[in-house]
Amino acid sequence: MKKLFLVLVGLLLIRACAHEQNDATGNLLPVPKSIQQGNGFFTVTKGTGLCISAPENDRNAVTRLLGAWEDMLSLTEKPADADCIAMEICEKVDGISSPEGYAIEVTEDGIKAKATSGAGLFYAAQTLLQLADGGNRIPVCSITDEPQFGYRGMMLDVSRHFFGKEFIKKQIDAIAHFKMNRLHLHLTDAAGWRIEIKKYPRLTDFAAWRKPAIWKDWWFGSREYVEKGSEGAYGGYYTQDDIREIVAYAAERYITIIPEIEMPAHSEEVLTAYPELSCTHEPYKQADFCIGNEKTYEFLENVLTEVMELFPSEYIHIGGDEAGKASWPHCPLCQKRMKEENLSDVNELQSYLIHRIEKFVNSKGRQIIGWDEILDGGLAPNATVMSWRGTEGGIAATESGHKAIMTPGGYCYLDSYQDAPHTQPMAFGPYMPLEKVYSYNPTDGLKEEQAKLIYGVQGNLWVEYIPTEELVEYMIYPRILAIAEIGWSNPAARDYSEFRQRAVKSVEWLKANGYNAFDLAKEFGQRKEALTPSEHLAKGKNVAYSANAPFNDRYNAGGETALVDGIHGGWTYLDEKWQGFIKGGIDITIDLGEEREISSVSADFMQMCIPDVWLPAKVTISLSSDSAEFRDIATIVHNVVRDEGLSFKNYGWNGKEKGRYVRYRAECGPQRGWLFTDEIIVK
Ligand code: ACM
Repeated sequence: MKKLFLVLVGLLLIRACAHEQNDATGNLLPVPKSIQQGNGFFTVTKGTGLCISAPENDRNAVTRLLGAWEDMLSLTEKPADADCIAMEICEKVDGISSPEGYAIEVTEDGIKAKATSGAGLFYAAQTLLQLADGGNRIPVCSITDEPQFGYRGMMLDVSRHFFGKEFIKKQIDAIAHFKMNRLHLHLTDAAGWRIEIKKYPRLTDFAAWRKPAIWKDWWFGSREYVEKGSEGAYGGYYTQDDIREIVAYAAERYITIIPEIEMPAHSEEVLTAYPELSCTHEPYKQADFCIGNEKTYEFLENVLTEVMELFPSEYIHIGGDEAGKASWPHCPLCQKRMKEENLSDVNELQSYLIHRIEKFVNSKGRQIIGWDEILDGGLAPNATVMSWRGTEGGIAATESGHKAIMTPGGYCYLDSYQDAPHTQPMAFGPYMPLEKVYSYNPTDGLKEEQAKLIYGVQGNLWVEYIPTEELVEYMIYPRILAIAEIGWSNPAARDYSEFRQRAVKSVEWLKANGYNAFDLAKEFGQRKEALTPSEHLAKGKNVAYSANAPFNDRYNAGGETALVDGIHGGWTYLDEKWQGFIKGGIDITIDLGEEREISSVSADFMQMCIPDVWLPAKVTISLSSDSAEFRDIATIVHNVVRDEGLSFKNYGWNGKEKGRYVRYRAECGPQRGWLFTDEIIVK
């Protein structure tokens, strides 16, 4: 009898242990604020109830999303005690203060999810789908979750190359999966106007079309606009119906579309279609609107009126970046405006336009966002700054009580190389792998009061060099996942190697759902020279720079010891390990401290023509025993020609010589520009 009892107890224990261990966190991106894991799973089966207590729109949004289990779930009016997913919008959820937050309780018998808004409930549903990982079993766990930032955005440039509405909708689905809530569309730029404006048909009959199709051929070639429908015309635009469809599609996924209408610069296409709005009234000549001309305001206000009718977004992006301001000092109307308004320079003139446009936009109950140049000449009173030239603009905005959206180029510009450049399609910006994006924290270094004004973070994809939909997806994913997690998750909970594993899984999800994501699992990684310091005769020795060829302070790589510290640069000259020299070339002398036998002297250089970084045309290596008389031991000549992408070249000598002083000189080719080197290696 006793034996039978023991067998029964044993069986019960085995049954108790039969709840499978689960790893709920492994699939979640962004990582939630808090999660308690249990054992076992809730399994969605045919007949599992789905009860959503929420207004109809929100109920529909969640039902649509959980359509992944469509043939199993049956909608119910009341939550059942078992085998039910019960989701509810309620007044308050414990532990949550953000309206986008939610709480989920998963047991083996059912799921309860609560939020205070439709967005929160939608994110709870996204979390359930991520937990299920494409299947129908949801690990037992309880989650309380809410975002760090209210603005978690992605920007897509649809001007340099145009992408149709179905593609935009596809991207909305993906970023919503990762709980992002803004899609900023860069709708207008020199390369093409992309939104139908009823009052100005030439914008879409002409300014939306160009020849040839590929931006770099067009930009470095004719820069010609052509009539819609003419032979070879490339371009396109969203009709107002397309915009309504995109906006509604996004809203159903709790994403706000932020339209950007560029002003006063980046407007060559407008000023060719409507040349009377430029200072010189000549087509094809100007990029900046005439700020003195009242017609400029009439045009911009009419355009913005139609834009605001189409986009319910509280924020309207009015550009503001990179104005050349070249025609304004010579334009009688601009000069008159400056006098009348007591404006002291062209920055204040630009600021006049931004202030005036802000007033107009505010009068319609909306707010403006501008790139950080809108700080120049005085920030408009209610403007939000989008910080792209680093973080300084955003920080300055918060110091004066303005909101900022952080999108610094060094972390958030997704048109840069995401892996070793030689393994990648040509990109615009330097090496910026997932890890670099993930290392960004938008509130770093800010006081609490300032940090509160950081509205959020955004990843930007400019598409000068990205002509196809496949490439757009390749550049966005998975790096936008790092932006999603920076925007949502607590920085204290962030760990790159753990994030990377989840990102690799998310790439699988993206690929399974038809996105052309970069294959993170096969990442090549950093330049191998940069991984380990090198030992050589010159390391730690004294270096003298010729007064004619100093290193540039901005790219000092640590100063006078940078080229003999054993540390090598990576795939980008921006990593503070490459020392930069502009125009004067390089002329440095290393003192080895005593006469040494020398068998090699060499240095690496890089070339990336877009930012004006070139290989040297000539390197001369010389030795001396007394630093007075040098003898040349090698001259290396290279024919420097413009090319695409990034390349590296070692300029060195091998042989057998003696000397104490090693002089290394590098000269620019006809292009002049920058030289970058990371270490002079002497062996
Ligand atoms: C920008 O990248 N010009 C905002």
